[in-house]
This record gives sequence, structure tokens and C-alpha cells, in this order.
Amino acid sequence: MNKISRRLEAIASLVEDNKKIIDIGCDHALLDIYLIKNKKNLNIIASDINNNALNNAKDNIKKYRVDIDIRLGNGLDVVNKDEIDTIITSGIGAHTIVGILYNNIDKLENVDTIIIQSNNDLHFIRQKVVKLNYYIEDEILVLDKNIIYTIIKFRKGIRKYNKKQLLLGPVLLNKKGDLFKKKCLLEKQKIELVLKLVPKNKLLYRYKLKKKIKMYEGI
Ligand SMILES: C[S@@+](CC[C@H](N)C(=O)[O-])C[C@H]1O[C@@H](n2cnc3c(N)ncnc32)[C@H](O)[C@@H]1O
Repeated sequence: MNKISRRLEAIASLVEDNKKIIDIGCDHALLDIYLIKNKKNLNIIASDINNNALNNAKDNIKKYRVDIDIRLGNGLDVVNKDEIDTIITSGIGAHTIVGILYNNIDKLENVDTIIIQSNNDLHFIRQKVVKLNYYIEDEILVLDKNIIYTIIKFRKGIRKYNKKQLLLGPVLLNKKGDLFKKKCLLEKQKIELVLKLVPKNKLLYRYKLKKKIKMYEGI
């Protein structure tokens, strides 16, 4: 198959061999096809809530002649708990992702790994997934077509994080690096813009925004 995007490649780098995976919101299923071709002994269920997306997946799976189970439906509704030990979900909003996990908590029983790439509200994702008794094992930043993407790998287990770690990412904070500094600068600039628009009498909200700016400035 042709090369996949740097973003999908980075997600794939966090996937282990010998896993039972569901890719929720697979769309074209290019990630899943890449995984089957590049990792060992994977069982993959590629699922999507949108029939057109799933038809794209079906065409690609046929084209590349790989064995991937395709399912139409919402989040984890399409599997039973014994079929999966790994969840991958990418390119979906934070609130949808968290909803998918919390709507089917019983299906997480055998899930030891959750890999998430979302473009917004990573603070919320970290906080909510950690509450489900997963810790943050790895985090990757990747620059793809001028956008910095964050990919988080959660592992089953309990660990406590402070506010700064949940906002910025505990692993990213340790790794630091130029991309991380660039991301923090961009986030800080976004919040500064919001702060300019918030009325002076919204004291608490303004205080919270200023606190966030301080955290980014600390990097
Ligand atoms: C932007 S695409 C991302 C495709 C691919 N995962 C990627 O990262 O390139 C998001 C896909 O998620 C699907 N989706 C959104 N909400 C979903 C849900 N609750 N359950 C399953 N699929 C969902 C959409 O139909 C769409 O095909």
C-alpha cells in the first residue's frame, strides 16, 4: 500500500503485536490495513457509525486483500467485551471519545490499552480516561501537514496526576522537545486571545485562563 500519513504512522507505532483491536471511527481503514501489514498477529475490527465511511473501508480492505472485520455502529456498541483488548480512536472530538468509553464501561473489562488521537480538549480526555483506571504510558507529538497532533497511549492501572500533567501531558512534560515547546506557545496564544474577549466581570473564568497561561509560560 502507499505510505500512510505521518499522523497515522505515529498512531501505528504505539500498537503492539498480538492484540485484539477495535478501531472506532475507522473511516477509510488505512490505519488498520497498515497495521495488518506491518505488525504481527493482530485481530482488527474496523468500525464506523457512517455507512459511506464504512463503504470506503470495505473498498480499501478488498483492494489490499487483508483480513479485517468491519462493523457499522456507534462506538463500542458493535463489539462484545471478549472480542477486544485494545481500543484505537483517532480524528474524533474529545467529548465523543469520552462518551464512547463511558457509555459502555462494561466492555472495557479486558481492555488493557487505549490509544487516542483527538484534536481538541486533551486535558478532558486525560482526566476522564484516568478516572476509568488507566494511566498514561506514552504520548507522541507529530507534525503532519503543518498541524501538531498529540497521540496518547493509556494502559490499565492507577496513577495520580496533577493539573499541570493533565493539561500538558505527563510524558510530554518529561520528554519536552521543540515540538512540545511550539505546541505550548500556540496554546498559550489561543488562550490569550480568548482572555481578551472575556468580560472583566467574569472574574473566576478570567482567573482560570490566566492560570493556564502561566502553566504554558513555565515551559
Ligand atoms: C475524521 S474521521 C477519522 C478517520 C480515521 N480514524 C483517521 O484518524 O484518519 C472520523 C470518523 O469517525 C466516525 N465516527 C464519529 N463518531 C463515531 C462514533 N460514535 N462511533 C463510530 N464512529 C464514529 C465518523 O463517521 C468518521 O468516519
